[in-house]
Amino acid sequence: MRFLAAAIVLLVLAQSLPAEAGKCPKVCSCDGAKLTVACVGKNLTMVPPTIEEITLKLDLKNNNLQVLLRGAFVLTPYLTHLNLQRCNIIRVKEGAFRTLGRLVSLNLAFNQIDILYQESFDGLSSLKELHLDHNRIEEIQPGAFTQLGFLNLLALTHNQLVYIPNMAFQGLLNIKWLRLSHNSLNNLAPEAFAGLFTLSRLSLDNNELQFFPTQTMTRLGEVKRLDMSHNPMTYLGEESVSMAKLTHLYLNHMSLQDLSDQALSHVPLLSHLDLSHNQLRNLEPLSGPKKLGSLNLTGNPIYCNCYMRPLKQWARAGGVKLLGACAGPPHLSDEPLQTVAPLNLRCRSRAERLTDEFEEESDSTSSPPTAKPKQNSKCPANCDCDIESQHATCEGQGHTKVPRGFPAKTQLLDLRSNHFHYLPANSFPGSSQVVSLHLDLCKIHEIESGAFRG
Ligand SMILES: *[C@@H]1O[C@H](CO)[C@@H](O)[C@H](O)[C@H]1NC(C)=O
Ligand SMILES: *[C@@H]1O[C@H](CO)[C@@H](O)[C@H](O)[C@H]1NC(C)=O
Repeated sequence: MRFLAAAIVLLVLAQSLPAEAGKCPKVCSCDGAKLTVACVGKNLTMVPPTIEEITLKLDLKNNNLQVLLRGAFVLTPYLTHLNLQRCNIIRVKEGAFRTLGRLVSLNLAFNQIDILYQESFDGLSSLKELHLDHNRIEEIQPGAFTQLGFLNLLALTHNQLVYIPNMAFQGLLNIKWLRLSHNSLNNLAPEAFAGLFTLSRLSLDNNELQFFPTQTMTRLGEVKRLDMSHNPMTYLGEESVSMAKLTHLYLNHMSLQDLSDQALSHVPLLSHLDLSHNQLRNLEPLSGPKKLGSLNLTGNPIYCNCYMRPLKQWARAGGVKLLGACAGPPHLSDEPLQTVAPLNLRCRSRAERLTDEFEEESDSTSSPPTAKPKQNSKCPANCDCDIESQHATCEGQGHTKVPRGFPAKTQLLDLRSNHFHYLPANSFPGSSQVVSLHLDLCKIHEIESGAFRG
């Protein structure tokens, strides 16, 4: 009898226990009305098994889950939002999310995932946002995203991708924005973005692309915004960009030294072009874009002489707003490109230049140094130093020794076409901020050790 009673008590307990505990696991806080559960920062190594089945939003950030096994969320099939940020996740096994057919948002940012397997995201047939940024992803296996037919946003920024293979994003039939910024991409296969028929925005900034991936980009017929800034490209040749619907193109903070006037000849709808912080000294009128509204040339060492006149006239005729300022010659430096008069864009004869230089020299000897404006307060003879853009140039001035005394903040030092022949040790004292140094065509045949010290 006693035994039976005890057995009944146990039975009742056993039946009521899961339901009782299911209300809210001890380490979590739950909102029964909103059907949300948060178990944040508890060093959990597994998903608490007693979370109520009807939960819609589950926040597990800052735990220690490490490996997500197949069916990890089988007990909560109604989830719409799942936050797994900073959970020390190393691996997502195939089928980990297979039961989450209602999930709309999945956040896996700030983990240590390195490979996306073929079936990592199987079953997420309603998913709209997938955050995989700040992981260590270096490989996307074919078919990783094939089941994400509703996805709008895929964030893969701050990973370690070097290469995107053909068809990597196959299956993303509703993708709008693909974010690949802050990886180490130096190569994109020609069909890397094949099948992304709905993509309207692509972020590829802060990568290692040395050339514009023309063939790959041409597949993206619907893309309107493309961010390629902060890639080490030096040149954009004819027909580099061929994108029928592109309106915004960001090519700022690259190393562009030249841009063909035909580079954008197949971008008819372009309205905003950002070329700021490159190394362009001049630019020709761009053929192709018929609706260009603004052209940003801020932070380029634009030399406002006769070679800039066609651009200026073209911009005026087409209503293109030019942003940025002249870096030289000295009498025009800091003059906004938008206001400089085409008539002032002149190339002077050598004789005129010599007289000017002579006058400038006698100017500076006759007036106290304080009378000189902010520009050129410190700059070697026969050089132009632009304090604001941090560029200094002594191109083609017949120098036989590397000039000294550049402004301490100089970042671009252009010494092309001089006659140095030989560079002794410590040729660049006080130039520790220089990131780009141009010594081409300087007839150098010997470089002493320590020439570039500092
Ligand atoms: C978290 O859990 C791991 C193992 O489960 C343990 O080694 C570690 O000390 C725990 N950290 C904290 C802060 O409790
Ligand atoms: C032009 O470029 C500069 C520097 O990158 C930036 O600060 C500015 O906002 C840009 N202007 C426009 C209108 O895009």
